[in-house]
Amino acid sequence: MLVAHITDSHIELPEPRGAGRIADFERVVADIGRLSVQPDLVIHTGDITHCDREAEYQQACSLLQRLPMPCHVIPGNKDRRESMAAVFDLAPGFIQQTIDTAHWQLLLLDTLSDTSNKGAYCGERLRWLETALSSTTKPVAIFMHHPSFEMTDNPYPFQFENKDTANEFNKLVTSFNMVKGIFCGHAHRNTTGKVGTIPGMTLTAMSLDRRKGTYSPKMDGKPIYQLIDFADDGGFRCQFRACL
Ligand SMILES: [Fe+2]
Repeated sequence: MLVAHITDSHIELPEPRGAGRIADFERVVADIGRLSVQPDLVIHTGDITHCDREAEYQQACSLLQRLPMPCHVIPGNKDRRESMAAVFDLAPGFIQQTIDTAHWQLLLLDTLSDTSNKGAYCGERLRWLETALSSTTKPVAIFMHHPSFEMTDNPYPFQFENKDTANEFNKLVTSFNMVKGIFCGHAHRNTTGKVGTIPGMTLTAMSLDRRKGTYSPKMDGKPIYQLIDFADDGGFRCQFRACL
């Protein structure tokens, strides 16, 4: 199963700052559409918009609708559940879902806080996650905006609201040995980390003007996303992709 992971589009309207970000998003969508092996699905891990405006979600939604495969979205700290749900036709409440595939269970989690830009995960969401993890024997991949782990190569390595919340989340996740990877956005740079022995990673922002960190010269001026190849035996491989 092949997943295209995209993140942090920060669509901002009206223009002029928005024009570049829409162009970056368009390049990502076009690049995915040109892949010789088409992903089975696309997951956007949040900060879809920059200002939580309806027109920004509409723009993102219409770009994703150009793709033939299912596209799933979760909120980043720049998004708001209510506005996102209205445009993407999602149920009210936390924007979390289970995607059950032949060999993997994908869990898309909502790490929004009501009080800060950092990650949170309340008791209600923990109970949802525990139920989801208890309900499968398949390998599990978690997608969420904020990393719950300390990131390497980031001057701001910890992005949850507090250690207790992150520890509770990490304790739950590590108590299920079928969790194989945690895929995040938010950092605007490619970083790695660990939750126990589970590898975690953050993917850089697709919008070029929000991208941080250093990249190979061949990626200059090219929006980046990643392809995650989930093998039937529970392994996976990630590959960064710089758009043509
Ligand atoms: Fe962001």
